Amino acid sequence: MSTDRNTVQSYDMVAAEYAAEAAAMPEWVATEIDLFVTELGGSGRVLEIGSGGGRDALELEKRGISVRRTDISKGFVELLRESGLEADLLDPLTEDLADPQRPGTPYDGIWACACLIHVARQDLGTVLGRLAEATRTGGRLHASVREGDGEDVCTHGNAAAPRRYVGTYWRESALRAALTDAGWIVSEIRRCVGKPHDRWLSVRASRA
Ligand SMILES: C[S@@+](CC[C@H](N)C(=O)[O-])C[C@H]1O[C@@H](n2cnc3c(N)ncnc32)[C@H](O)[C@@H]1O
Repeated sequence: MSTDRNTVQSYDMVAAEYAAEAAAMPEWVATEIDLFVTELGGSGRVLEIGSGGGRDALELEKRGISVRRTDISKGFVELLRESGLEADLLDPLTEDLADPQRPGTPYDGIWACACLIHVARQDLGTVLGRLAEATRTGGRLHASVREGDGEDVCTHGNAAAPRRYVGTYWRESALRAALTDAGWIVSEIRRCVGKPHDRWLSVRASRA
């Protein structure tokens, strides 16, 4: 498979709007940030996939973590840059994940909140494996995906500016197997609820 370009272009169109809507930190994400920072011992260099509006990176930095912000959507990357932040356009399925600020040094952790939902089921193992390769032994992973079965296509907008998002749902056992096969040791997969009926599987894992 390959990256769904309609989804990426849809985020490009609404980046500012999305950033404003997602600016408030959900309670379950705040809990994950606490755990992640504790596991990192309050320092380290982290690769963030799908930074979006940048909410989580700011919080991680407040807690002493150095974050490389990245997104596959140039709309989000430009938005972050306009705020004076460094951000890189990056597709975790195909592009080099190495840290340009620290060549040859793996990351201490990966933060991938609510973004791997857009990776096709058959590609998730590849992405998780590439993230593992970019992380030091014992480094930490946070990733969250939607809980459920199958895929969905969500359409918004109008004929002049159509938006189309593809999402993949996961059950815990398949997700756990994909993580393990990709080189992660799963510590916990928590069930979290965002908005009503918005169910997430939130992963805590370390690099084998
Ligand atoms: C629901 S938003 C989450 C943004 C941010 N992490 C947050 O929690 O607010 C989904 C994010 O995934 C990114 N994305 C879309 N397709 C992707 C893909 N194939 N691989 C990785 N990220 C993708 C989007 O650009 C967007 O930043």
